[in-house]
Amino acid sequence: MSPDRSSPNGEPIALAAPGKSKEDLLSTRPSPAYPASSVVPVAPGPQDAQGTTPSASATFHFGPLPTLFGSYELLEEVAHGGMGVVYKARDLNLGRTIALKMLRGGAFPHPEDLQRFQREARAAAKLQHPNIVPIHEISQYQSYAYYTMAFVARGNLYQHMAEYRDPRAAARLMAKVAAAVHYAHEQGILHRDMKPGNILIDERGDPLVADFGLAKFLASDANLTRSGDMVGTPAYMAPEQAAGQTSRISGQSDVWALGVILYELLTGTRPFQAETTEAIYEHIRDDVTRSPAQLRPEPPAVLETNHLQS
Ligand SMILES: Nc1ncnc2c1ncn2[C@@H]1O[C@H](COP(=O)(O)OP(=O)(O)O)[C@@H](O)[C@H]1O
Ligand SMILES: [Mg+2]
Repeated sequence: MSPDRSSPNGEPIALAAPGKSKEDLLSTRPSPAYPASSVVPVAPGPQDAQGTTPSASATFHFGPLPTLFGSYELLEEVAHGGMGVVYKARDLNLGRTIALKMLRGGAFPHPEDLQRFQREARAAAKLQHPNIVPIHEISQYQSYAYYTMAFVARGNLYQHMAEYRDPRAAARLMAKVAAAVHYAHEQGILHRDMKPGNILIDERGDPLVADFGLAKFLASDANLTRSGDMVGTPAYMAPEQAAGQTSRISGQSDVWALGVILYELLTGTRPFQAETTEAIYEHIRDDVTRSPAQLRPEPPAVLETNHLQS
């Protein structure tokens, strides 16, 4: 199946020229044979608790990899989640490894998804911080919307929770995440979906905040979420999010989520857990939880104090 070259809905996603031919590429490019009709999008499979499906069970793909995608070579599928598929890829022009996130829906994305995807890339691109994943470009190739960013080698924090169980390691990690989130707030951007799956870990063990898919620009009226919609991931939601009071969501809602993540790192369990999403919301609203000290007596008292104040 060949991808459709026409713009599916006239959205202004194309910020750069469409894909180059093989001849346009620099000679540094390796030269496997790429079939012209290798684009075979298939519907995504089920997600794990983090809203992310590891690539091993992924069924949304671009046919056999590696494959050429404009001036990138898609090397392997890293994960796919709510918004699309993330590939490890090689920028053939600059000769470096990058991550390429492609919007779900192939050449025919839902217009609202496309808007949100652009918004996600623009929110992240506005931010320059050592603990926020740097964005390189947003563009499209043969109507497939994508953006590229730095490749963060060790995946997300959800895959490394046990390595940060030591209170000092957890505190050091979360202090960096908190600095990044604080900086985003100073730039007028709320993340609104802080959770381990959206914190990436680099080769040195340092965190980089990713996935501004639900980001809100504080100064802007434009908000893709209708009033009353639930925004975020249930277990990490602040009470105002769990109550669907979107107008009350503020920087403190992100700080709440950081507290939940720190709790989870220290104790190995989440503070608000239940069988159903509605029951999680109730626990959050009614503050039904156990203090981290009950689950793990040995963390220094200062961490306990910080958590309960968040
Ligand atoms: N820049 C990156 N480098 C390495 N892995 C990444 C990168 N961006 C995302 N990933 C991986 O893909 C997963 C999903 O990415 P994310 O941007 O959170 O997408 P979604 O909107 O689908 O949740 C992440 O949890 C992480 O494992
Ligand atoms: Mg995510």
